[in-house]
Amino acid sequence: MTSTTDSMTLYDEPYRPQFHYSPPSGWLNDPNGLVYYEGEYHLFYQYHPHSTVWGPMHWGHAVSPDLIHWETLPIALYPDDLGTMFSGCVVVDADNTSGLVPGGGLVALFSYHTQAQGAAYSTDRGRTWTKYEGNPIIPALRKDFRDPKVLWYAGQWVMVLSAGESVMFLKSPDLLHWEVTGEFNGGYEIGVWEVPDLFPLTIEGVTKWVLIISVNPTAPAGGSGTRYCIGRFDGRTFIDEYPDQLLWFDWGADDYAGTTFYNAPDGRCQFIAWMNNWAYAELIPTSVWRGATTIPRELRLVNTEAGVRLAQFPVDALNQLRVPLGKWEHFTLGETLSLDEQVRDLEVEFELRDAQIFGVELFATKMGGVQLTYDVNAQQLVLHRPSGDIRNFNPAVSAPLVAVDGRIRLRILVDRSSIEVFAHDGLLTMTSQVFPEVDAAHVRLFALDGTVHVLSLCAYQIQNIWRA
Ligand code: FRU
Repeated sequence: MTSTTDSMTLYDEPYRPQFHYSPPSGWLNDPNGLVYYEGEYHLFYQYHPHSTVWGPMHWGHAVSPDLIHWETLPIALYPDDLGTMFSGCVVVDADNTSGLVPGGGLVALFSYHTQAQGAAYSTDRGRTWTKYEGNPIIPALRKDFRDPKVLWYAGQWVMVLSAGESVMFLKSPDLLHWEVTGEFNGGYEIGVWEVPDLFPLTIEGVTKWVLIISVNPTAPAGGSGTRYCIGRFDGRTFIDEYPDQLLWFDWGADDYAGTTFYNAPDGRCQFIAWMNNWAYAELIPTSVWRGATTIPRELRLVNTEAGVRLAQFPVDALNQLRVPLGKWEHFTLGETLSLDEQVRDLEVEFELRDAQIFGVELFATKMGGVQLTYDVNAQQLVLHRPSGDIRNFNPAVSAPLVAVDGRIRLRILVDRSSIEVFAHDGLLTMTSQVFPEVDAAHVRLFALDGTVHVLSLCAYQIQNIWRA
């Protein structure tokens, strides 16, 4: 497929993600309008084409057959007389309920920067878009009132959108006329709520509803982050089944404004977030672009002792890019073990012995690299990442992780400027940017003051998606 590389240097700049999407140039924040339609995944995104800092928002656009290889297309939505293009969603209006897409097509619902909501439509597989002439379709009802996400439920369209420190639910027969049905706050007043998502998932034959909310600031790693609730949706509002628990979607510093795909194939639930943090988003040391997306993930529900939880997995298509580097089983790690090749995907299962701290060093050099450690006493997974000159860049991102049967199991994806950890089969994830001094992703396993047993270790290279 065609890639956006028009020279050998584009997509090979320092820190440029090699298997994550980032725009050729300019600024990217939230993914928008995630939709699967006629064999293509669409990724729209908050985009400022003329700068590497946030500015008048457009919707950038990329498409993919598999969620891994992306082709950047021309800008989909430009600012208009009513304002600039904030976040929103795209749905497939197969039955033309809107009257805008005879024969079926795509309808985008987005926020203007004024916090009024607008619509646009496309009848050519998302290649060109027309703004609805009756915009805006919903006025700004609150100071912060934005980021609509729409689903089809029980014969009507349902919208969830952020409204200050809560989310509101609206319903519509035609995507254009909306009526408020409910509001959910859940008692947590932790910063501005942005980019909500609402979707059903089934576990053991029972359907639960998941509400995802991006909050800024007050995330566990500082700055902006994502939380979620599990409960019921009665067609009007959301009822939290665990009202006393604050569940974090990701414990890393850089997983924000993520949403799920509309119409994902085979009933799957597929998700992409912005891999950055408003606390320092404009300061990360990249050029000629700034901002990337997380690895696309599949979401599932899992029963745990504490209740039902979300689990996240990198989409299967990533595995096709894996090049095995080696597999090692059953050995005791005293001090260190080094892997010299470019490891981009690592699966490791440790069994605790007497070392109180052990882990993996990534981007290892004689000067030290980025360390992911497990602290047995504290029951914490900690990512130590050099902060360089970046203000508000948390240098030690941590997450609570209890060993299961004395074991810690991790999958770690390492791109040039990011580390995504999936622990215990995706029950805990930690997504963080890193800006190491070296590009080579050499890896060193280590144990401090004792030993740890390695039950298995698999290392892979991942083929570059821009030069394949
Ligand atoms: C989240 C957000 C949204 C808004 C968009 C503007 O990161 O602040 O609430 O629509 O970014 O770019």
